[in-house]
Amino acid sequence: MPQTSHASLFWDRYKPDKIRDCPAPEVVGFEWTQYEGHGPGTELLGNPVTALELGPGEGREAAYLARRQGVHVTALDLSRVQVERARRWWAGEPGLDFVHGEACAYLAETELTFDVIYSIWGAVWFTDPEELFPLVFDRLRPGGAFVFSHGEVRGELYGRQPMYGKGPDGRGMTVDRWCYPPEVWADLLKRNGFAVVDATCLAAPVEGLGTLIVRAQREVEVSR
Ligand SMILES: C[S@@+](CC[C@H](N)C(=O)[O-])C[C@H]1O[C@@H](n2cnc3c(N)ncnc32)[C@H](O)[C@@H]1O
Repeated sequence: MPQTSHASLFWDRYKPDKIRDCPAPEVVGFEWTQYEGHGPGTELLGNPVTALELGPGEGREAAYLARRQGVHVTALDLSRVQVERARRWWAGEPGLDFVHGEACAYLAETELTFDVIYSIWGAVWFTDPEELFPLVFDRLRPGGAFVFSHGEVRGELYGRQPMYGKGPDGRGMTVDRWCYPPEVWADLLKRNGFAVVDATCLAAPVEGLGTLIVRAQREVEVSR
């Protein structure tokens, strides 16, 4: 079962310093890592017309794709607070829709398909891949790419792991995240029908955590 109401309280506090009157930032790049200008950019997505981002938070990358590349982006987030800030920041941006919802529930219900589904330290990290990956596969058009990144995790962490943080009123709480080495992410994707899986951990440009970046594709069906 996806974590929903409990987790949304946790994520309502993500980047709380920017929640009130802070204006939208300049978006100058599309970042998969936490180090500005480090690593690949939108080339991992190919040339999509439509994209779905799972867990955009502030929505910077979604805004970049819509504004700079003319992609129609649906950006789905579990936290109402995150969605409200993103809608305020990027109001009037053509081709950009912020939707409030949970990734598995949305994917199971929507009839839309996307050229690309991506997630940056977002819902993919915090959702059971056994549940999420088949739903992503079904909503990706043949030939489309599924790309995600998240922070490097220590080697001894494997599978579902609690992540500690603060909930409402600053009380301690946890949400779960799924931690696997690149080759296990690749196996999980292949088992769920994806092809051309490239999973790697990109080292940090300075001392610090690297970034796991995974790219998979739904193959074009070949008729005989
Ligand atoms: C660590 S933040 C990353 C936000 C943004 N991508 C970034 O790089 O700054 C994780 C985001 O994923 C969202 N999220 C977590 N689980 C989710 C789920 N199951 N469905 C939709 N969004 C989810 C959270 O609300 C939060 O905004």
